[in-house]
Amino acid sequence: MKNGRFITLGIETSCDETAAAVTADGREVLSNVIASQIDVHEVFGGVVPEIASRHHLTQINAVMDAAIAEAGVAWRDIDLVGATMGPGLVGAVLIGLSTAKAVAYAADRPLAAVHHIKGHVCASYLRPPASDSTGALPRITDRGPFGASVASSENFIKTPGAGMAPPHLALVVSGGHTDLIDVRSYTEYRLLGRTRDDAVGEAFDKVARVLGLGYPGGPKVDEIAKNGNPKAVGFKRVYLEEGSLDFSFSGVKTAVLNYINTERQAGREVNVADVAASFEASVVDVIAAKTRAALHSTGRRKLTMGGGVAANSMLRARMAALCADEGVELSVPPPVYCTDNAAMIACAAYYQYKEQGPSRLDTDAYATLSI
Ligand code: KG4
Ligand code: ZN
Repeated sequence: MKNGRFITLGIETSCDETAAAVTADGREVLSNVIASQIDVHEVFGGVVPEIASRHHLTQINAVMDAAIAEAGVAWRDIDLVGATMGPGLVGAVLIGLSTAKAVAYAADRPLAAVHHIKGHVCASYLRPPASDSTGALPRITDRGPFGASVASSENFIKTPGAGMAPPHLALVVSGGHTDLIDVRSYTEYRLLGRTRDDAVGEAFDKVARVLGLGYPGGPKVDEIAKNGNPKAVGFKRVYLEEGSLDFSFSGVKTAVLNYINTERQAGREVNVADVAASFEASVVDVIAAKTRAALHSTGRRKLTMGGGVAANSMLRARMAALCADEGVELSVPPPVYCTDNAAMIACAAYYQYKEQGPSRLDTDAYATLSI
């Protein structure tokens, strides 16, 4: 405890970010340290699991020390140690989880081993320091179907989402997941829909590779698409069977590849910005339609969005417009809390511990884990 506040140390190592953070009373971010391995994996065009684990191992202690120092707390102030237990690259998860167990055991503090996706949901509850939230929202530019109504609806996004609480609908869109979840309470999650093949972030990364934009693809597609026409190419929208809240994004990469090959064979120049914007529009259309359907079927009046792809400008704009239209309250974290971070894990750990107590010190790490 510090000044009467409950202090949580969070640790996240499920993919290619080594992260540690400290929160007060679950939601207030005191520090959020992230050591990214992007440069390490860039040359391979994707994350190499074994290399990721080794880097987590060399970084984790320094990252944790930095999180404690930046938060202005002492080790003895820590009340709870939270870490991701899965899903993720299992060797990578193991480094963070083992570190958390060691700290919890040595400091005689409880451990809370949390589900990574619950972390992405909890990112919408965080109250980040002003420096992380100001200017972090993407500016909405007037382009095609979005227009002026979107510019005003950006004000509708409540950041930070310190007032957000269950029950609500959650959309988690990341490199590994595309989930629509009914969050009934801080510990009751019901999965309504999920991807049947590629996650939407995976589709962004693959399309970026096809377009020669490099890795990680999502932010690069986002940037270049801002100069493109989303109506230039009519990529197919895959809705699956009537009433389904599941997704399928595995076909879109092939569709983009086929389009590029056809254009080149016909001797026409490919406008990368137009293709990127059209691809984005095709996935954003589907995500928006399914989210609207999930809001209707559950009757929820609040929506949170998280995961790396929630940093995407077109998706943010569309969801803001959708929620304004539906009169639904939307909470989307600033981009740095959309991608993997440990503040969201600390927040998830806090609520889990408060309602369900500590996790055992022999808790395993998992590559796959249902919510
Ligand atoms: O949540 P995250 O950091 O890691 C996972 O748990 O998967 O998500 C990473 C994914 C990557 O596929 C990355 O390309 C995508 O999020 N991403 C974006 C943007 N920023 C990150 N996709 C679209 N637009 C962005 N601005
Ligand atoms: Zn993630």
